[in-house]
Amino acid sequence: MSRIVFLNGSFLPAEQARIPVMDRGFLFGDGVYEGMGVLGGRLIDNEAHLVRLERSLGEVRIANPYSRAEWTSLEEELVRRNGLAEGFLYLQVTRGVAERDFLFPKSTEPTVLMFTQAKSIVHSPAAETGISVISVPDLRWKRRDIKSLSLLAQVLAKQAAVEAGAQEAWLVEDGFVTEGGSSSAFIITKAGSIVVRPLSHAILPGITRQSTLALAQETGLTIEERLFTLEEAHDAAEAFLTSASNFVLPIVSIDGRPVGNGKPGPLTRRLRELYLGMAGASAEAA
Ligand code: PDD
Repeated sequence: MSRIVFLNGSFLPAEQARIPVMDRGFLFGDGVYEGMGVLGGRLIDNEAHLVRLERSLGEVRIANPYSRAEWTSLEEELVRRNGLAEGFLYLQVTRGVAERDFLFPKSTEPTVLMFTQAKSIVHSPAAETGISVISVPDLRWKRRDIKSLSLLAQVLAKQAAVEAGAQEAWLVEDGFVTEGGSSSAFIITKAGSIVVRPLSHAILPGITRQSTLALAQETGLTIEERLFTLEEAHDAAEAFLTSASNFVLPIVSIDGRPVGNGKPGPLTRRLRELYLGMAGASAEAA
């Protein structure tokens, strides 16, 4: 079965989906995107992702082509048509097709693209063993709270990580960790406190971050929303990342140095279980 994608109102085989060369997403990276986890054929935290999409579109002044209910039914239809049980749904909106010019085109419809990717999130080897990260300078623009296209800095950072034998890059600015190349960054201190950078223009407001913090709070774990340095991360008891495509993933090495005893830590494992419980529960509820 060929992959079915959604493009500008139609569901069609990926090979038949065509975007004009003058699309501003292609020429300028002029657009925003979202990515949702799928478990048991259901979208995880979808409402929160759609709220963030509305915000991203608003910040870059692209009209939202669909209501939240319309987005949801299109996403669910795409998941259904691809028979996707577990993985990721990618959604992108660009400012559309127009003669190349920096200024907004006058009357252009946004380009809307969605596709799915199958991926084992629950039983991933990375979740069992934990992953390694390296630190690299954060070269991105100053509105990282917008989930915008133009991911060149992240592409270079993540490629450097893999070339160094790691799986993710932690981005560092002014001596402080901002976030991962495509994930939110957390450490747990030796005193058992979960430390995560507060929301600002410097990082993406991660949806998985938000859900994980809510679960941690319900469980009575201590959370400190503050900046942390790379040195503090090197000295932490545990570290982990969160993202829609990984949920909660242990980090066992930073820049070649083991975190704690070099194995996924107990609090990280607990948070992962809590998140899986929530995702499984919400996956069954609908
Ligand atoms: N990335 N920070 C950055 C820079 C990200 O790109 C992402 C997500 C996150 C985590 O956000 P969330 O929990 O909402 O997925 C944090 C997605 C998965 C991607 O680009 O593929």
